[in-house]
Amino acid sequence: MILARVDDQLRSIFDGARRVAVLTGAGVSAESGVPTFRGGGDTEVWTFRGKHITELSSAELLATDPKLVWEWFDYRRGMLASIEPNAAHHALARWEERFESFTLVTQNIDDLHRAAGSQNILELHGNIWRARCLRCASAFEARDCPLEQIPPLCFVCGGPSRPDVVLFGEMLPEGVFERAEQSAARADLFFVIGPSAVVYPAAGLPIVAKQSGARIIEVNPEQTDISMFADITLLGKAGEILPQFLSTRG
Ligand code: APR
Repeated sequence: MILARVDDQLRSIFDGARRVAVLTGAGVSAESGVPTFRGGGDTEVWTFRGKHITELSSAELLATDPKLVWEWFDYRRGMLASIEPNAAHHALARWEERFESFTLVTQNIDDLHRAAGSQNILELHGNIWRARCLRCASAFEARDCPLEQIPPLCFVCGGPSRPDVVLFGEMLPEGVFERAEQSAARADLFFVIGPSAVVYPAAGLPIVAKQSGARIIEVNPEQTDISMFADITLLGKAGEILPQFLSTRG
């Protein structure tokens, strides 16, 4: 079913849910002014020196030109440094305490869910404000923007570091995806909010939830591959739609 806004029937499904899991993608940050990767919903797309994201955010480029990879992430950090969470991020932070269990799984590395107050977050693709040492594997916060030094040096061993994000051609961080899968399998209500659902394994989580009996609610200005098996697709912007779920509860 396709809806343009949250109606009373959907609100009562929301009110009756006990275990909720949410998957977010770039679209949830679009209304904060963060470009997406593949467009949709009239959003701007990330560009950098005429190169495509699959090249810039790749393990291959990190091996051959780590300086360029850091410059690409430093550029994104520069853009994100002054960006605030939007109404969608804030709505999700408020949802957290309303359910028996609530898990927020995100593909985003922009840290805006945390900035909005969300706590139980599974970062599938890492975090742009962290670096990881290439020598001792320590992960540490690197908030200086622009970066004082490329690469930032490890606080523990002084070794060179890399962005603590998942690059194309790399596996997701150990344990994080498994926990996301468990929360999807246990959910009675599973939201998919602004991924285009073309990047796996994250795009497989709604299928895990559906096969375990959850209702799937998608929020996106455009239909995606999820729309064909979602119980409800809310065609609109997350920042306008998500607050509607709580509106009756003041
Ligand atoms: N609210 C909700 N969804 C929106 C909004 C909005 N305001 N604006 C755009 N969208 C939707 C678009 O219609 C599109 O379906 O957000 C989606 C953005 O898709 P992508 O750019 O492909 O982003 P995402 O799916 O998160 O990318 C997955 O790919 O590049 C890698 O690692 C990167 O995590 C990223 C992964």
